[in-house]
Amino acid sequence: TAWISVANARKEEAIAPRAEVRGWVRTRRDSKGGFSFIEVNDGSCFGNLQIVAPAELANYESEIQKLSAGCSIVATGELVASPAKGQATEMHATEVRVIGWADPETYPLQKKRHSFEKLREWAHLRPRTNTFGAVARVRNQISQSIHDFYHERGFLYVNTPIITASDCEGAGEMFRVTSLDLEMLAKKGGPVKYEYDFFQKPAYLTVSGQLNGETYATALGRIYTFGPTFRAENSNTSRHLAEFWMVEPEAAFFDLNDNMQLAEDFLKRIFTDCLNHCEEDMAFFDSMIEKGKVDQLKAVVEKPFTHMPYTEAISILESTTEKFDYPISWGTDLQAEHERFLTEKHVGGPVILTDYPSTIKPFYMRVSEDGKTVAAMDVLVPGVGEIIGGSQREERLDVLQSRMDEAGLNQDDYWWYIDTRKYGTVPHAGFGLGLERAVQYATGMANIRDVIPFPRTPGNADF
Ligand code: 4AD
Ligand code: MG
Repeated sequence: TAWISVANARKEEAIAPRAEVRGWVRTRRDSKGGFSFIEVNDGSCFGNLQIVAPAELANYESEIQKLSAGCSIVATGELVASPAKGQATEMHATEVRVIGWADPETYPLQKKRHSFEKLREWAHLRPRTNTFGAVARVRNQISQSIHDFYHERGFLYVNTPIITASDCEGAGEMFRVTSLDLEMLAKKGGPVKYEYDFFQKPAYLTVSGQLNGETYATALGRIYTFGPTFRAENSNTSRHLAEFWMVEPEAAFFDLNDNMQLAEDFLKRIFTDCLNHCEEDMAFFDSMIEKGKVDQLKAVVEKPFTHMPYTEAISILESTTEKFDYPISWGTDLQAEHERFLTEKHVGGPVILTDYPSTIKPFYMRVSEDGKTVAAMDVLVPGVGEIIGGSQREERLDVLQSRMDEAGLNQDDYWWYIDTRKYGTVPHAGFGLGLERAVQYATGMANIRDVIPFPRTPGNADF
């Protein structure tokens, strides 16, 4: 008998005299007429397939009537048009084999709805729920769209290292990596000797693949990285993780305008693909997580993004009657509340903020004519805030070096990066998109911990 996914079995054209589905029971309901209705899900789609199991089956009383949520089964039978509302097909089973039981006394995912907080304690089981199945599929779609988008535009996929000695963002938020037994060394007292450490110098988990990416962009033209990045910053918010995935395109001969256009096309492509390829999941988010999500995204992909220089944003924020917890003035960084005001109240959609003060941005951003601002761009979206951060890069050797000095960076540590400006330097630009922030925006999920399978936050490295 041919195996068929639940996603395919639910389609009208699946009707067939014999098929097999494999999955996990969501619910079982026994009817008086000598039938049981089993809702089975296999993760291939949001919906379940209804299995109608007649009392004539040999294991009806001994097994089928004992099935409960979480049990795994293989069902064989005829796929027929369903008389029930909300489903095109159902299966009339000729055999229901139980593969694995799930004791209803102890199985955590009972019929009652659990809060997302509670489900985080069961990160290993939550993908079996409607919401987390849908999140996993949308996240998968976005990852696929990322690769599709860049490949179609001739960007080469480059893998940059996870372990590194350099702090790209210069924010000192790196996790230390060492092969030394720190507890043993502490007991012995005395100084830490790097010659005994694996890399013979301090090494860290990367905060960004950008600097390595730039070396490839200044050789191969257009590249992107896509991988895990790490930050030992305060992750006790709904938008920060200690471990998150970042996509970082970098393109030679790009200026800030090219970069902004790329970011806008990129985001629109991602959300269009979610709307077109995850219709059922998006309908669920639209009705259960954030009302109006689908129409909101449709509007976002149709309209051009608003562009606004930082200086203009500051004067808007200074002159509004809105009350903020954090004071804002030229030279300070925007807080979440400011980003929300601009995107949700002032513009009502995504905003690309540009030309930030050099003092609040990293050393690699290109200094503008005014000497005070850099060619930076952050893309902000309603609900989430900053989703993309990027810039045109400083390609002038002398300016880069003086910016490094100002930032207190040791040029010897970055000699390889500086070489890209010494030898055949070119204008270039790039940005980073946080995958989880993109999934949050696409789905409307309020907490970033619920859009990554196993969130890493302070005090939480389990599973
Ligand atoms: O703005 P960030 O720090 O920029 C960079 O790392 C640049 N090197 C990127 C580049 O130009 N190639 O981070 C980029 C994006 C943010 O806009 C945000 O979406 C996400 O990464 N991000 C986080 N996501 C989850 N948790 C965190 N702690 C994050 N920090 C940044
Ligand atoms: Mg940023």
